[in-house]
Amino acid sequence: MKMMVNYAHDFLKEIMRNQDIAVDFTMGNGHDTLFLAKHAKQVYAFDIQRTALEKTAKRLEEAGLNAAFLTLDQVAEVRHRPGVYLIEDDHAFCRQYLPYFKAGIFNLGYLPGQKHEITTLAKTTLIALKDALDLLIPGGRIVLVVYPGHEAGRLESQAIDCFVQALDGHDYQVMSLSMANKHQSPYLVVIEKVQR
Ligand SMILES: C[S@@+](CC[C@H](N)C(=O)[O-])C[C@H]1O[C@@H](n2cnc3c(N)ncnc32)[C@H](O)[C@@H]1O
Repeated sequence: MKMMVNYAHDFLKEIMRNQDIAVDFTMGNGHDTLFLAKHAKQVYAFDIQRTALEKTAKRLEEAGLNAAFLTLDQVAEVRHRPGVYLIEDDHAFCRQYLPYFKAGIFNLGYLPGQKHEITTLAKTTLIALKDALDLLIPGGRIVLVVYPGHEAGRLESQAIDCFVQALDGHDYQVMSLSMANKHQSPYLVVIEKVQR
């Protein structure tokens, strides 16, 4: 079987066209940003760790793609300019940076190989997810790779499950994919905004 993150990419690839805008809410080592950059016109990627931006910029460069670091005062300037924009900020502030978008990914938890204390948290993840759903265009999808195997991840997974189960079925279709016989293992949540 594939890893959950690969299923996450499959669900995004299915709806992405090369004129779309995509968002990586947790840039990390840049694997997801690179994936989005290959399928979208414009990509915004967030992380609170400078090292994540540096690693992602390097990964993109090695793949022959350019990325620019983006600050709040430059947002209007790049709004209609194709490219990959790396943002050193909390995804809880994503609304200040983002236009409407078609595809988004939250690959939660901590950066492999770095401090486990710097991890996504239920409170800020939910703030970002709510804003992201407002900005998602109809027919667009947000995928979350959730890691309940550590304490902050367990609390975050409970908060996410509770939140998505309460989303109105007329507005959103929500699917989850998990290992039925491994309860602590990572799982996937896919949210699609219904097209009317
Ligand atoms: C599991 S890693 C992401 C993996 C990554 N997408 C990749 O392809 O390598 C989670 C990342 O989320 C970042 N993070 C944690 N809290 C955050 C927040 N509030 N806003 C933005 N990024 C955050 C961490 O710094 C970490 O790099």
